[in-house]
Amino acid sequence: MSEELSSFSIQQALKTAFIGRNIVYYPKLVSTMDTARQAAEEAVPEGTVIIAGEQTGGRGRLRRTWISPGGNIALSIVLYPDIKYLPFLIMTASLAAAHSIEAVTGIKAGIKWPNDILVEGRKVCGILIENRMKGKKATYSIIGIGINVTLRPGELEGLVYPAAGLEEISSRQISRTEVVGHLLNNFEKWYRQLPDGSRIFSAWRNKLVTLGKPVKAQSGNRIIEGLAETVDDNGALMIREADETLTKVVAGDVTLRG
Ligand code: BTN
Repeated sequence: MSEELSSFSIQQALKTAFIGRNIVYYPKLVSTMDTARQAAEEAVPEGTVIIAGEQTGGRGRLRRTWISPGGNIALSIVLYPDIKYLPFLIMTASLAAAHSIEAVTGIKAGIKWPNDILVEGRKVCGILIENRMKGKKATYSIIGIGINVTLRPGELEGLVYPAAGLEEISSRQISRTEVVGHLLNNFEKWYRQLPDGSRIFSAWRNKLVTLGKPVKAQSGNRIIEGLAETVDDNGALMIREADETLTKVVAGDVTLRG
């Protein structure tokens, strides 16, 4: 049984200026993405965090379902970033998540392109970013982060990628308050560095476990197979196919092969 979450206990763990300074905890929500989006429409302060004890309709990337029963972490952060920073939000969120998991478990975490966090080859955290655009301007961005803590995904059927929970991999109880505290502190640290995107980019690139590996990528209806050679300046994955073509994958899903 993990400890109860509360806005108060999380705020005690924060060293931030604005991320999580307004934090609203709900014992149960359909999805923190929906509640955060509503909050953004009402122009809540930047950095507002919506966090749920449990989600009944959590969603993942590519229209997948995200299972987050009680005992895990499901939160969304409301941001109002300049449009030029949008490609770097994925990097910011995945670095913050990977570093917070490492800080609490003491185990190395890697990033599977573009933003799945893996520990010992299994997914412990997923990130979903939804942007609202008005013309060429970003009105808001919602950064959704789900971390498996007590979940033992091995018992679940139909998973796209092998998954694990932090308690399972570290064989001990994990404080969700501690993980969320590290996550939000790290997020603000990296978010403040957006004007110097190159630091975020190289830190993210260095944590990618995908590069140099044979991969299979699904981008829209296309399947691209080859060697994950590099990432371009905006974070797109460059795959060297068998016929030597270098193919760019901007969004989609990647499976590590072999
Ligand atoms: C993925 O790996 O496909 C992304 C999963 C994102 C899950 C988080 S949990 C908090 C937020 N609310 C949701 O419904 N989804 C995101």
